[in-house]
Amino acid sequence: MSYPRIRLTDRLRLEPVDVKHADDLFDLYLDPAVAEWYGRWTREQVDREVARIARSWSVDGVHKWMAYHRATGELVGRGGLSRKHVDGRERLELGWALHRRFWGQGYATEIGRAGLAFAFDELDADEVVSFTEVHNHRSRAVMERLGFRYGKDMSINGESFALYLLNRASTDG
Ligand SMILES: CC(C)(COP(=O)(O)OP(=O)(O)OC[C@H]1O[C@@H](n2cnc3c(N)ncnc32)[C@H](O)[C@@H]1OP(=O)(O)O)[C@@H](O)C(=O)NCCC(=O)NCCS
Repeated sequence: MSYPRIRLTDRLRLEPVDVKHADDLFDLYLDPAVAEWYGRWTREQVDREVARIARSWSVDGVHKWMAYHRATGELVGRGGLSRKHVDGRERLELGWALHRRFWGQGYATEIGRAGLAFAFDELDADEVVSFTEVHNHRSRAVMERLGFRYGKDMSINGESFALYLLNRASTDG
């Protein structure tokens, strides 16, 4: 299988997460505004996470990207697709997390659009889902900007999450 490729959007360079990104992912997860939603990660957990994601890229050909600003090279965040068991079956899930200083400029939506293009144009997916804690209004707003429709609330480990869905049919035309 070919090595997963780097993608360019208008403002971002999207690199498939690899073990070389451990420092940057750790840095992102240390951002208090991100940790509020993702919890506190140790360096060892991040090392395991990048190894797990790199394996998924090579086995499945899909997983998250690190997002760098094309003009400055700064780390903006991470996001994109991954295969996940969601609400009873395997699905393609789309997500995002940005360093706090990059919020409010449309970068998560830009990552999301690249993920949807990957899913529908290259992976031939029929559906992409996204979910977040019910009170994560910023993440829900990204889903709505991208055209996802709210599906339902679901419980994961006793916490309430809002599940959103987007079908290929609703993106055609
Ligand atoms: C969730 C998260 C990624 C959303 O970030 P965000 O900056 O609000 O979302 P976007 O990058 O799409 O930016 C949208 C904002 O930029 C504005 N914007 C500016 N240019 C834009 C453009 N070209 N396209 C879209 N929006 C644009 C929008 O109007 C919107 O403004 P608002 O915040 O005043 O409503 C961010 O809050 C985050 O990283 N949170 C912590 C991690 C997290 O919760 N992840 C999700 C877990 S499921």
